[in-house]
Amino acid sequence: MGREAVSKMDLAVDAIDVIKTYDRKTRALDQVTLQVEAGTVFALLGPNGSGKTTLMRILTTQLSPDSGKTSVLGHDTVRESAKVRQLVGYVPQEMSVWTDISGYENLLIYAKIYGIPSDVRKRLIMEALENIDLSDFADRLVKSYSGGMIRRLEIASALLISPKILFLDEPTIGLDPMARKTVWEKLTSFKKEYGTTVFFNTHYMDEADLYADRIGIISRGKIIKTGSVSDLKHSVGGEILILSLEQEKVEPELIEKIRVLPLVEEIVEGDSEISLVTEDAEASLPGIMKLLDSSGVAIRRVSMNEPTLDDVFLKYAGTRLETATRLNDIKQVRGMIKRG
Ligand SMILES: Nc1ncnc2c1ncn2[C@@H]1O[C@H](COP(=O)(O)OP(=O)(O)OP(=O)(O)O)[C@@H](O)[C@H]1O
Ligand SMILES: [Mg+2]
Repeated sequence: MGREAVSKMDLAVDAIDVIKTYDRKTRALDQVTLQVEAGTVFALLGPNGSGKTTLMRILTTQLSPDSGKTSVLGHDTVRESAKVRQLVGYVPQEMSVWTDISGYENLLIYAKIYGIPSDVRKRLIMEALENIDLSDFADRLVKSYSGGMIRRLEIASALLISPKILFLDEPTIGLDPMARKTVWEKLTSFKKEYGTTVFFNTHYMDEADLYADRIGIISRGKIIKTGSVSDLKHSVGGEILILSLEQEKVEPELIEKIRVLPLVEEIVEGDSEISLVTEDAEASLPGIMKLLDSSGVAIRRVSMNEPTLDDVFLKYAGTRLETATRLNDIKQVRGMIKRG
């Protein structure tokens, strides 16, 4: 379906030219334009500090954009914020339940906050717990829950209002692979049953790859690419060559020489490793090997891969997702030290 065919009402999220600046200097969102169709699972994928939470806070009416326009299911998030709040469920990045009371008691507090009438509270709470497979633990103190169960309880709290769209900010951050899988199994079956639109933020590319119908890639406050997982991977246009080296690093000049070889589209150096996007891996390999050989760089192994989302990120953001995440962590820690 072409973009023209999608009417405004079919859009779960419509953001146009959104700008958001903190403290007059940190531009968290820099002209973000993004459309998400109703009924899809959409992942906003980007490294730490790229603006994911800021956009989600705007879409869930907690923040207003400096300029631009955002609507959710056809309702403006600023002018019709009360209406939007009736339609959205939101699970924040940070913990949002109390640990010294039971799961049931947590949901009761949320039910009261949401203004759910007392005669239906119990039923809705039990349904939410059932949907996320926590019924058997309803009366246990949350401090006895595992990390994955706590995340599921937070999701249950967002389900209480039977949202039309569920916003999840890093739904599985810090969870082990098994717990991540369980969270997603529950979300997927819930989504299937109710047709809820799911919009989630993540910096795990495998999570976006596995669970999203469509992905938006965000870097430094800009959406640099959107599409289905396979469209994005195809758009890399080339193949990935990874050369494992006997040594840690090579001369920067050598990297530059490889970069300008025919067929080579992008090159990034990691620890004892060079990764390249090339139009044709097999055809470009001899030229690359010759250059490395003449500089005395020994190769341990060569692998050729289909593009991953990290390669997509590399192509459009000019850096690896992981590197960008790490660099941003360092920048943020430095900032904290500077601020004392
Ligand atoms: N309340 C705030 N005050 C000042 N700066 C902020 C505030 N919240 C976020 N920022 C800055 O805005 C930028 C975007 O932050 P945001 O939290 O939206 O990114 P993110 O992609 O969600 O990151 P993470 O993956 O770490 O959650 C960052 O540079 C961040 O330091
Ligand atoms: Mg965030």
